Amino acid sequence: MRSLIDIKELSLEELDSLINTALDIIANPSKYNEKCRGKKLATLFFEPSTRTRLSFEAAMYELGGNVLGFSEASSSSSAKGESVADTAKMISCYADIIAMRHPKEGAPLVASMNATIPVVNAGDGGHNHPTQTLADLLTIKRKKGRFNNLTIGLCGDLKFGRTVHSLISAMSRYEGIKFVLISPTELQIPGYVKTEVLDKNGIEYVETTDLVGAMPELDILYMTRVQKERFFNEEDYLRLKDSYILDLAKLSNAKKDLCIMHPLPRVNEISVKVDSDPRACYFEQALNGKYMRMALILMLLGIK
Ligand code: CP
Repeated sequence: MRSLIDIKELSLEELDSLINTALDIIANPSKYNEKCRGKKLATLFFEPSTRTRLSFEAAMYELGGNVLGFSEASSSSSAKGESVADTAKMISCYADIIAMRHPKEGAPLVASMNATIPVVNAGDGGHNHPTQTLADLLTIKRKKGRFNNLTIGLCGDLKFGRTVHSLISAMSRYEGIKFVLISPTELQIPGYVKTEVLDKNGIEYVETTDLVGAMPELDILYMTRVQKERFFNEEDYLRLKDSYILDLAKLSNAKKDLCIMHPLPRVNEISVKVDSDPRACYFEQALNGKYMRMALILMLLGIK
């Protein structure tokens, strides 16, 4: 029985296999619509979500399975004080696989240690978001056709942005990757990501506050929202929230084949006028998340 808590638990071969399954699902959806008949996915969301929860649910339905769960902590017995460990034990009696989002870093790991069914980390605090990375990888594969030799700009809240931490972890395993880390000084990438991932893998990176200056060399620009829910005081959030707003003018010196990504939700860090630019990939990225979650459910349930 296997869970997915951190993207680095998947080997490069397994990532390739998940991507190939997702591409086959896109090409031949009817082949998959009975694969999970009789199986149940439990979505345990202790924190708000639109894409992750609903794409997990759509994924299970499109595989012929069923879904149960809750979308806020207040409607579960955690509101009465039940622990994550006990919740995981109980849900193991009712479902075949769990997708869990939690504001506390490490909560899905605790769940996986107590469940008797696979647990997928659907985002834990400011830590990791491995299935968002699966969506990101399929998007990069479909748009750029490769994972090697890419210059990737990550822009916005790199401190609390769990999607960024997971994406750096995944992309640091490929050849010829350079990261341009664009953020206000207060929201720079955490030290542990630099030492344990970037430095450890000998990955080239620069830190800058200048989005426009970085733009010409980027193959991928990954914008992120400033994470209001992770700030200790509103004053700091208000001061930093509009640090970067991507608009068409800022894209004037970008590559013609730039891929603009964003895990979403967007607040105002990408102007809606960018949405119709052919380089905008973020809505397709969200759709890719459903296909990769279908592939992941099949893998963790051991279904061919
Ligand atoms: N990208 C992402 O995790 O979106 P949600 O918070 O809507 O699930």
